[in-house]
Amino acid sequence: MPATAPRMKAPASSVANRRAVLSVNGIYVDSSDSRDRYRRLPFIIYVVDDQEGIKRRIEDLRRQIEYHNYRYHTLDEPEISDAEFDQLMRELRTLEEDYPQFQSPDSPTQRVGGSPLETFEVVVHPVPMLSLGNVFSEDELRAWHKRVSNMLGRDDFAMVAEPKMDGLAAALTYERAQLVRAATRGNGFQGENITPNVRTIRSVPWQLSGEPPGRLEARGEIFLSKTGFERVNEERAEAGERLFANPRNAAAGSVRQKDPRVSARRPLEMFVYSLGYIDQPAAPLADTHWETMQCLAAFGLKINPENRYCRNLDEAIEAIRSLERQRESLDYEIDGVVVKVDSLAYQADLGYVANAPRWATAFKFAPVQGITRLNRIEVNVGRTGAINPFAVLEPIRVGGVTISQATLHNEDDIHRKDIREGDWVVVHRAGEVIPQVVAPVVRRRSGGEQVWHMPAECPACHTPVAREPGEAMYYCPNLSCPAQFFRLLEHFASRGTMDIEGLGEVMAHKLIQAGFVEKLSDVYHLTKEQLLQLEGVGDKMADMLLASIDASRKRPLANLIFALGIRHVGETVAAQLARHFGDMHALMNAGLDDLREVPGLGPKIAESICAYFERPVNRSLIEELAAAGVSLGEPLPPRTEGPLSGREFVLTGRLDRYPRGQAEARIKDLGGEIGSSVTKRTTDLVVGADPGSKLARAEKLGIRVLTEQDFLQLIGES
Ligand code: IVH
Repeated sequence: MPATAPRMKAPASSVANRRAVLSVNGIYVDSSDSRDRYRRLPFIIYVVDDQEGIKRRIEDLRRQIEYHNYRYHTLDEPEISDAEFDQLMRELRTLEEDYPQFQSPDSPTQRVGGSPLETFEVVVHPVPMLSLGNVFSEDELRAWHKRVSNMLGRDDFAMVAEPKMDGLAAALTYERAQLVRAATRGNGFQGENITPNVRTIRSVPWQLSGEPPGRLEARGEIFLSKTGFERVNEERAEAGERLFANPRNAAAGSVRQKDPRVSARRPLEMFVYSLGYIDQPAAPLADTHWETMQCLAAFGLKINPENRYCRNLDEAIEAIRSLERQRESLDYEIDGVVVKVDSLAYQADLGYVANAPRWATAFKFAPVQGITRLNRIEVNVGRTGAINPFAVLEPIRVGGVTISQATLHNEDDIHRKDIREGDWVVVHRAGEVIPQVVAPVVRRRSGGEQVWHMPAECPACHTPVAREPGEAMYYCPNLSCPAQFFRLLEHFASRGTMDIEGLGEVMAHKLIQAGFVEKLSDVYHLTKEQLLQLEGVGDKMADMLLASIDASRKRPLANLIFALGIRHVGETVAAQLARHFGDMHALMNAGLDDLREVPGLGPKIAESICAYFERPVNRSLIEELAAAGVSLGEPLPPRTEGPLSGREFVLTGRLDRYPRGQAEARIKDLGGEIGSSVTKRTTDLVVGADPGSKLARAEKLGIRVLTEQDFLQLIGES
């Protein structure tokens, strides 16, 4: 029995040779099964020992799975997350294995996918399109590798690791090099004819190049990129149409369009990952999967450039890890890595089990999406007064962590997506990004869901909220709103701004509550006596805080500008302003025209800066900070006149003879100016090794391009 299982009395009817079944967090486990993964599970729900109960549970699971299969595969409108679905499937499989008397050919465990819609012509696959077994951990992958090794009698065979694209499988048939048919996988044995739609996919050639066999079927995944998906959903939201939950559903929905013109407008793509069959000549294209893929690529089909050749298990594991790290930066969703034995002879030896090959398995990543209940929508007030709505969720594990909140951007977005309080929603969390609510599951509505509206007043100070024309955001216009000030103080002290260690969210709250800090400059007048009055603050902490406040007086100007929390002035803009103006007074006294001189600064930002410094409280704040000893930067030396006067240089790529900073200083000494991006004002682009996109832009604008050698000559140092 699992170590953590609470002790339970077996029912009186339990006799020694009848096995008890435990349901561990909803997964059925044989009591004799002491495998580690079950041991690690935190609790056990109940012990069952009656055959009737097991049979009922099996039937119930089959019904549920059938239903969700239909929603997912046929209608493209899932109601539960993949993880929830996998869980149901696992439970059913375990039960059927342990209770073979209840196995049935009608069970969803015996099938692949769902049945095709009747509206498309049915296509029978000459060779069935199978499914793949899954592994969820490195241990499970090693176990798969061991089984394969045992069968092959060796463990040093090569494999191919391929991203498992999350789209839908399709088969392309070419006859005499012409694309004659494209079909969905459907239930694996028969799918739907989607030729007109697939012909709209740009990565699918209508005609193969080279000398392909007379008849060839290539299989692969049709998918929509992440950017394509966002675009499609934006268009649908604008049109008041239901949103797709994820790129997979959007791709499936697009491929299944009755009108190919609609598919054509969706940026679908296809990577080919296997050869279905070939004939005339019947000789195989190659001896290995890897070479087969290269042949298909040579015929003009698209294969995934991320596919990796792995000489052994260690390399396969490294490839999986590396693809998982890359997952966020790929512009299409992958839900795992497919590992395939490379040798076709070994594949033939290994053969198939049920509906999946033994020679391949899918290593599944933690799902980045889930479906959960949105309990209510709340707002918080940011440091610039922006009122940000967010969803309070029923906690759910997504992307490896538990989330209970997700951002909702703004009210328009909430209405466009038709997200209501009480809805079941699709949430997405990838990598380090803030979790997002993607779409509601409209089908799961009960009628009690509430349409949400932005509160009329700021939740903190009750000032009526305002919205600027053309902006999606609502703001609290009260410049002394306590919530805004709290966030501002927190921001002022955070890393990247004044970096005051010990002044985080909690301390900011205490200081404001105690009335010690009412404006930012008050931070610099805090005394040890005051700090010691705060709950939980001892001698040591007070000293430390005072020391870090003192240290913050010397932060660079860019940090101070960013710290002020001027609307639209982020870290990058602050750095540009600091570089351009050199000291705070110059910035404070700059008019709109002066601000327009700053390379790359848009009118919206310029106006926001002017508006900020027009307010007397903000001007006094700067003076108070200065009086408290905070450094306001150094006025820039008067502009040098020199041989480079009137020219603006942009540097790109790596300079070999000169560190970037020194090169810039030299240009300035000679009277030239430095720009951060190539604009119409740029006169010269200095190009080092591995230049980025700036070079292309400069060439487009007809700007003079200097090599490092040219540049050295220009500054007299060659
Ligand atoms: S090979 C017999 N390779 O995953 C093996 N499948 O669960 C057939 N998939 O329906 C599949 N990327 O749609 C293979 N690189 C890849 C794949 C891949 C995505 C999908 C495929 C299939 C499902 C299997």
